[in-house]
Formats: sequence, structure tokens, C-alpha cells
Amino acid sequence: MSRLDRCYNIADLREQALRRLPKGVFQYIDRGAEDEVALADNRQVFRNLKLRTRFMVDLTDRDMGIDLFGKRSELPMAIAPTGIAGLSWYQGELALARAAAAKGIPFTLATGSITSMERVAKEAGGRLWFQLYMWKEEELSYQLVGRARDAGFEALIVTIDGALGNNREYNKRNGFSIPFSISAQSLTDMTIHPRWLVGVIFRYLATTGMPRHENYPPQYAHRITRGTGPGSPMRHHAMTWADIEKMRKFWPGKLIIKGILRAEDAVRAVECGADAVVVSNHGGRALDSAAPTLEILPEVVAAVGDKTTVILDSGVRRGSDMVKALALGAKAVLTGRATLYGIGTAGQPGAEKAIAILKTEFEKTMAYVGCRRVSELSRDIFSPKSLKQLLGE
Ligand SMILES: Cc1cc2nc3c(=O)[nH]c(=O)nc-3n(C[C@H](O)[C@H](O)[C@H](O)COP(=O)(O)O)c2cc1C
Repeated sequence: MSRLDRCYNIADLREQALRRLPKGVFQYIDRGAEDEVALADNRQVFRNLKLRTRFMVDLTDRDMGIDLFGKRSELPMAIAPTGIAGLSWYQGELALARAAAAKGIPFTLATGSITSMERVAKEAGGRLWFQLYMWKEEELSYQLVGRARDAGFEALIVTIDGALGNNREYNKRNGFSIPFSISAQSLTDMTIHPRWLVGVIFRYLATTGMPRHENYPPQYAHRITRGTGPGSPMRHHAMTWADIEKMRKFWPGKLIIKGILRAEDAVRAVECGADAVVVSNHGGRALDSAAPTLEILPEVVAAVGDKTTVILDSGVRRGSDMVKALALGAKAVLTGRATLYGIGTAGQPGAEKAIAILKTEFEKTMAYVGCRRVSELSRDIFSPKSLKQLLGE
């Protein structure tokens, strides 16, 4: 029985990824900001919301797919942008993109990925979205987005929740930072994980050399051991809605704004011409006191749900989480860690397994609440008490 065969849920994939990856890489993926309150709260709110079953419904004719931006997605789900996924698996971004294509869902390539967007577009197939962190030098953002347009990416996700960066103290303790420093600690961490060292780092060294941020503009696309120089080259701290309005004029495809945690920001995003918003607290990796996304989702749906596509992420680990988010008005969810644990365990087949697990759980939960298709979901599936608690009524 392979390691993957022994994984029955996302927690099992996480466990396997923990064994294969160096501590620094695993914790970079797995953990949250500061005291990890937001990380835990994201999960807790999903847990607190209870479902009422409905049986005696003929479930023979079921369909878990949706129409997302005019095209079919086999599940109401897309893979979230995650920087340096290529450190979990050799060309991990390609593994994720191919898994998404095989399972019929979109994949988002992060600005901070190791594999170039042109290569992903050429080799992965499927529906591709590109995520942008804006750069201090404005023209660099446009260069990057121009590359994504020319490579045929369908959608652009602009992430707006960077602010002044994050506090992830364990990364510093683990010596896991960019530039990636080779210290006694990180060397030990790597050498006691030989499967990863040989399968990822040695393989890069034998082919393309030390991994680089391939999508960074040339002046910043150094090896991860060198980094981009002092300070962040990104312009998180000075972004405004004017930047989004301008980007809207430039980008011809679907525009998605990620990092929304209040209705008025969702309204602004729609006014700027966004085709979708992602209610996200960055998976609990940014502001540790951030509200759980499921708690904020109803106010965003009430404000813009009839005008735009509302997507949710942060904390999705079970198919039932997807059902809950959709019944509250989300059109789809993004998964960050769930699919990263998949590639961290076994590359593309691991990510496919993560998607398959979520799909099976989703379909089973849908059946328990008597829904054959996503359009049949409503708040009626929730226990009134737990729904009231969530809505603060
Ligand atoms: C390792 C890692 C790297 C991430 N990198 C990015 C990134 O580069 N850009 C971005 O917009 N979000 C990034 N995120 C956040 C995800 O896009 C997403 O919002 C989050 O992972 C969702 O929560 P989940 O992991 O609980 O599914 C990252 C998340 C993880 C776990």
C-alpha cells in the first residue's frame, strides 16, 4: 500500500507531508501568523455550523459541477495561489496545475511561484488564473500581467491583504526565509529529509539550477538563496482602489479581488469592475485577529452577491465546509493548504487525491442535506440555532 493509499482525508495528507518535508518548509505551509488564532478560528466556525439532514430525496441524478465565469467547473472549487509551491515538490506548481486540469477545476499560479507562467500555460492545460502582488515599481505589475495575458491566463487575482507583511515567527526560528539561508540548522533539517532533498533540491540543481522566482521581473528573479535585496519589492503598503481601477482597464480577462473581509470593500471592488471577490483572511497567515471568513461571508453576499461572484477561502479541509460556504452564498471555494499537503506527499497524484477526497466528501454531504446539485443549496440546510449564532442574531 502506497503512502497515498493510506490517506483517507486531508488530515492524513497533512501527516504524510509532515514526514516528507523539512520542518522549515512544512511549517511555512502549515502554520498561521503569530499565535495562530485566526488559523484555529477559521476551522472552528465551520465546525460550529450544523446541518439538518433531509432524506427521501431521489439522489440518482446528481451533478456537483457549476458554471464558473461561463465555463463548467467539475466542482465548486479552484486551487488558491500559494507562493513557492515548487519547494514542496519538484515543479510543484506544474503538479498542482496538472491535478486541477485532470479534475476539471481552475488553478491559480502565484506571483511568488518557482515555475514560470509560460511553462505552466504550455505544459499544464486546464483553466489557469494568475495571482498578482503589485510591485513598488508600477510598470513591473503591468509587465507581469501582460505576460499572463499573452500566455492565455483566464483570470487575474489581485491579492490586496498584504499591508505591512506578516509575523510568522516560526519561519525565523526555523531559518526558513527568503533569501533562503543555508545554516547548520537548515542543512540538518534538509539532510534528515533525504527524499525531499534528492527529489526536489538535487533535481533542481541537476536541471534548472537553484530555484528562482521565475515570475518575478528579471531584476528581482534571483535564486531563492539570494532573494530580492533589502526590503520588500512589493507595494502592499500603498495599494489603493485606484490601482484596481487602472488594472481593470489593462486586464482583458476576469478580474478577482482576494482578501476581502468587509462588505464595503466588496462593493468598492465591484465598482472598480471586479468580476469576483474572494472573502479571505489568507488562511490565517496574515492578521492573527482577523475574523473567520465564514462569519464575514453573509455580509459580503448580502452586499454584492447579486452583482458579482463571491468566492471564499481559509480553512476548507472537508467537503462539508464547501457545502456550508456555498449554502451561505459563496459560488465556490479556494483551497490552499489542502492541495499543498497533497503535493507535499506525492506531487500531482497527491493533489489529485486531495481534490478527490474533497469531492467525495462534498457529494456525500450534499446527499445528506438532500441536494442533487449546487443550485438546490440554501440556508434551509442549517440548524436554526447554529445559523443564528453565526449571524449573531
Ligand atoms: C504556503 C502558502 C503560500 C501562500 N502564498 C500566497 C500567495 O503567494 N498569494 C496569495 O494571494 N495567497 C497566498 N496564500 C494564501 C492562499 O491563497 C489562501 O488564501 C489560503 O491558503 C486559504 O486558506 P487554506 O490554506 O486554509 O485553504 C498562501 C497560502 C499558503 C498556505
